Amino acid sequence: MPSKPSLIWHTAASRPTAGNIVWHGGKVSPVEREHLYHQRAATLWLTGLSGSGKSTLAFELERQLLDQGHACYVLDGDNVRHGLNRDLGFSPEDRHENIRRVAEVAHLMNDAGLFVITAFISPYREDRELARQVIGDDRFLEVWVRTDLATCEQRDPKGLYAKARAGKLPNFTGISAPYEAPDRAALTLDTRERPIENCVGELLTLVAPRFV
Ligand code: ADX
Repeated sequence: MPSKPSLIWHTAASRPTAGNIVWHGGKVSPVEREHLYHQRAATLWLTGLSGSGKSTLAFELERQLLDQGHACYVLDGDNVRHGLNRDLGFSPEDRHENIRRVAEVAHLMNDAGLFVITAFISPYREDRELARQVIGDDRFLEVWVRTDLATCEQRDPKGLYAKARAGKLPNFTGISAPYEAPDRAALTLDTRERPIENCVGELLTLVAPRFV
């Protein structure tokens, strides 16, 4: 345990506010939290089409990390839209707000020392860049789950592609709304080409340096 707090703080202290808001620093340093959890907190950001396998990968990775004794948590698109983001739809503006809020939550969870795994379509490059800024470049691991549209549509686990094709679901990613492919992904995975255990193995290798 370090005797005095680290001077490097992952805080939101420098971001603009409504005004008359003063940052109140705490007494626990990031390094102390690293020692407590034996890990350097980060956010693994899974992006890809609906049905690409993001949630399956996220929850399997969480299971395996927890089994190894690591403190981690999944923020999943459908789940977060049941609570915090239940007021948001799928217009570009609402998706932007969805990602902004999730990035802020991931940032707080990382600040608390947890390892975070997110599973959001997050179709806009600009929004993912915002998430990278909010969370911090050194803590942001972008992973593109590149399963192609035809495969996602064939899987259609929630019947949403069928609805979208029938014109009953507007703004559906891949059908009537865009998906902008990542150009800064740390890893690209295709769940059509490889079994899920294999993909999770790759993710474990990617995140291994964060755990000591
Ligand atoms: S995001 O684009 O804002 O990142 P998010 O990941 O939170 O999306 O939510 C996606 C989930 O919402 C999909 O897996 C799907 O189950 C559901 N959904 C409902 N309507 C849509 C839509 N128009 N486009 C995409 N997903 C939708």
